[in-house]
Order: sequence, then structure tokens, then C-alpha cells
Amino acid sequence: MENYLLFDNKLYENKMKIIKSQKFRKVFAKYPDKDGSGYGDINYWKYYVPILVAIEQLVGKIEGKNILEIGCRYPVFLDYLNSLGTKGQGIDISPRYENRFVQKMNISNLNKQFIAKNKGKFDVIYERLTFSRWYDDEHELKTGKKRFEHKEKILKTINLLLKRNGTFILLDDRGTMFTLKQFVDAGFEKCLFEMPILFGGKTWNVIVAYKVVN
Ligand SMILES: C[S@@+](CC[C@H](N)C(=O)[O-])C[C@H]1O[C@@H](n2cnc3c(N)ncnc32)[C@H](O)[C@@H]1O
Repeated sequence: MENYLLFDNKLYENKMKIIKSQKFRKVFAKYPDKDGSGYGDINYWKYYVPILVAIEQLVGKIEGKNILEIGCRYPVFLDYLNSLGTKGQGIDISPRYENRFVQKMNISNLNKQFIAKNKGKFDVIYERLTFSRWYDDEHELKTGKKRFEHKEKILKTINLLLKRNGTFILLDDRGTMFTLKQFVDAGFEKCLFEMPILFGGKTWNVIVAYKVVN
């Protein structure tokens, strides 16, 4: 598999058609927005599309793949991936929906049963706008206290849950909240340079992927 991601405008426009598809609409309809925060607008979900592109290009055929989303909140995209044949699971400290594939759980403090059951299981683990929301450099500068204390532990946990050769994908607006050294120490190698994603004429998200070192 290639260690780079092709995401030009043509591919972007093509992939965005997913959001308009009958299949996506059907999944989306299962999850009414419970708190009016934007998730109820089907266009919101286009922000997830780079994750599908990254999985297809870095991991290959998605059918049958074991996938974990950290901080899924509304599991619309995960459910859509499952409709394409993945075996996706989600965790969230405060999920808006819990169903057979979404569990209420904290990535910093997973329970032992979850770890025992899922150790070495996932082909792909991804997160979108979850880790960055814990990190607050302004707070750190003002108070001298970190809000995000568990970086190393989280990366090691993710590594433990991934298969050998598994991939961790971050789609976030702070691609650099972990240092490369923290990834390397947790057993990852970087396989994709940070790549800004263009949405609505501005770049604000970055996609980065890390592979478990074999
Ligand atoms: C800004 S929302 C993003 C939701 C979703 N990923 C998206 O892009 O629409 C961040 C989510 O991360 C969840 N979260 C925060 N801390 C978490 C933790 N320690 N473990 C699991 N989920 C967490 C929150 O409950 C929230 O649903």
C-alpha cells in the first residue's frame, strides 16, 4: 500500500457525492440531531469524507475491516462505513446514541474487558476533532497546567488495540498536538505528511496517518 494520500479536487468532488447518495441518506435519517449542534445537517458529514479516502488509499478494500472511531458522538459516518461492509465500532465519553456498535467509554481510561476483547483487533482507528478539543495551549500558558495529560498513554492504548500493520488516522485541526517522538515511542511510524484539507474555500483540518511499526 502506498504511503501517500491522493486527494485532489476531482477526487474530492467525486467522493463528496457519497453524502447525497440514497445509502448515506438512509443511514443519516436514523440519527436525528438531539442537541441542535449541526450534526442534523447532512452537509456536515462531508467533513468525514477524507477519512474514507485515507482508509481506501492507505489500507485498501474496506469490506470486512475492523474499525474503531474515538469520540464519534453521532455515529452517522461509522454506520455508513458499516453499510459498506466494515465492522465498525465507536466509543465516546458522552455519546448521543448508544447502539450495538457504540459504547460509552473514555479513551484515557478504557475498561479491562474492552481492552482484553479488542487487543490487536483493529485495522483502522480514527478520530475527528476529539483530541484537539482537549488540548488548550492558551489555558496552559495562563495557568501553567496542562489539560491534556494522557497523550503518551492514549497513543500506547491505540497501538495496543491496532493489528500489526494497523493504521491510526487523525482528522483534526491540530495535526501537531502529538509530537512525532510521542508516536514513535508508542510504536508508530508516520506514513503520511500532514495534509491540509480544503473545505468551503478555507483550509482548517489536517489529515495524518500513522502505521504500527512491525
Ligand atoms: C468536538 S466532538 C466531535 C464529534 C465527532 N467526532 C465529529 O467530528 O462530529 C468531540 C467528541 O469527543 C468526545 N470525547 C471527548 N473526550 C473523550 C474521551 N476521553 N474519550 C472518548 N470520547 C471523548 C466528546 O464526547 C465528543 O462527542
